[in-house]
Formats: sequence, C-alpha cells, structure tokens
Amino acid sequence: MIQVKRLAHATFSTPDLDQQIDYWTQVVGLAVLDRGENHCFLATQLGEEVVALERGAERGFLRRIAFQVKPGSDLGELAAKLNDEGIQAERRTDISPGVKQAIVFTDPMGTMVEVYADYTFSPSSGNQIGVSPMKFGHVASRVHDAEKMTKFYCDILGFRVSDWIGDRFSFLRCGVDHHSLNFIKHEQQALLHIAFELRDRSAVFESCQYLTQNKIPLVFGPTRHVVGHNISAYHRNPDNIRVEFFTEMDLMADEELGYWEPRPWHEEMPLKPKVWPDDTLRCQWGFGSTGTFPGYP
Ligand SMILES: [Fe+2]
Repeated sequence: MIQVKRLAHATFSTPDLDQQIDYWTQVVGLAVLDRGENHCFLATQLGEEVVALERGAERGFLRRIAFQVKPGSDLGELAAKLNDEGIQAERRTDISPGVKQAIVFTDPMGTMVEVYADYTFSPSSGNQIGVSPMKFGHVASRVHDAEKMTKFYCDILGFRVSDWIGDRFSFLRCGVDHHSLNFIKHEQQALLHIAFELRDRSAVFESCQYLTQNKIPLVFGPTRHVVGHNISAYHRNPDNIRVEFFTEMDLMADEELGYWEPRPWHEEMPLKPKVWPDDTLRCQWGFGSTGTFPGYP
C-alpha cells in the first residue's frame, strides 16, 4: 500500500483557457505559475499548486488528480508495490513547475492518478486576491460503485474511511481533515464538485458577497453540513464545475484517539467515524437544511 499524505492538485480540460485563467486568478485569487499556448498551472498565494488547465474539447473534465506521499520516498519502490497489486504505473518527469518526478496510473473510474514525493513550493505572495483559498480541500465524484472506489483508495493509497451516508456516499481522509475525497453512487460517472478551504467562517461569507458582486450566483449554501460539519457555499465556474468554499471541517487530530476534535455543533460526544442515516445529506442550517445536497441524486 502507498500512503498518500495530501491531495495536491487537479488537472482539468477547458476549451476556453483564457476564460478559465480569468476565473481562477481574478475570482478565486490563484497565481499563475506557468502559462503556455495550451496549458496553465495555478497555485494558491501561499505557494501550493492546486489547479492545472489543459486546452481540450471537454469543459471542466477532470483529467488527472495528484497526491503527495512522504518526501524522499522512492517512486520506483512505490511503482513496484502498485505492480504487485496489478496496477501498471509509469514514471513521468516535470509534471508541474514544482514536481520533477512522479508516477502515474489509472483508478477504477478511469481517472489518471499522479503520485509524487518531492514538491518545491512556488513563490508565495501571501496577498489576498479575490477569495484566496488556503488550500485545495477535496474532490467529490459520482461513481457507479462507491464501495469499489472507496476500497481502491483505502487499500492502494492508504486513505481511511471517515464516514458513510447509507451505502451510497463515502468520505475519505488521508490526513487530519475529515475528507479529501468523496464517492457518491450515481448512474452517470462524473465530477461532482471540488472544494477549497478558506481561513475562517467570515472568509466564506465574504466569498459569497464577492461572488455575487462578480455576477456568479451561489447554487447552494451558505450552510453547515452535518457529515464533516464544514460551513460551505457552492457556485459554478464558467466551465460549469461546481466549486465549494468551506471552513471548519472536522479534524481527526489523532488517529489513535479515534474521534473528531470536539466541536459545539457535533450531534454527539465524542463523535467518531460512522455510518449516517440516508437523509443526512440535509444540512444543519441555511438553505441546505431544507434542500438536498447539490447534484444529488
Ligand atoms: Fe464538498
């Protein structure tokens, strides 16, 4: 098994590179690291690469998702481990401005997965531009078989199951954050949403105002989810990708303690990973307390 430490960045195709770059830089507030005729790499103002864009016919299609393992790890050994599991991994070089070496393979849904060990932070301005997220939080996908995808990411990449909603919606962590991946059972496999963590709840509310002033309507929230307990607000970007800004997600500070850091909004103490009832897609308050989760079913 490979032990992933963090969600790193995601690569999307877009037919309108300029429009996407405008959105990611002026609205979200990412910094351009490298731009060419057919591609662009973007990082947070704190120096982490989070989004890569490639010119292509499909709007907002998730082409690749990258994860970081322990710095200094031997990628040849990791590729051999994957091979033992029947997964063919290839070596790639210079996959992004900050990543010289990586291995690449395909997950059961057909998404390419990039794994790297060593990352060089990009220059950090620390400036507040647009929404200015702190980090890339999670990727949620609609999949035919949520159990199979959950098992793959746990058995092969070292994720832990944080929660299930019924048998159809899983939340997986690879660090302290409640989830870096979601899999939701659905007839049509597709990206459901991507999410970025903001510094605090006032930043989430400010982002709602900023989006509105930029004529980008919210599609859900602001609200507080039950599972994960993050305060969230969702909109769609110009390529129709549903983007979530969130804060105050549950934290598993110590795996051996086995419970989420206690918070006043938890339904029980201590709150531990569990299977929630099917209707827990409803939120604690806000629009989501009466509506259903965006994009589901
Ligand atoms: Fe989310």
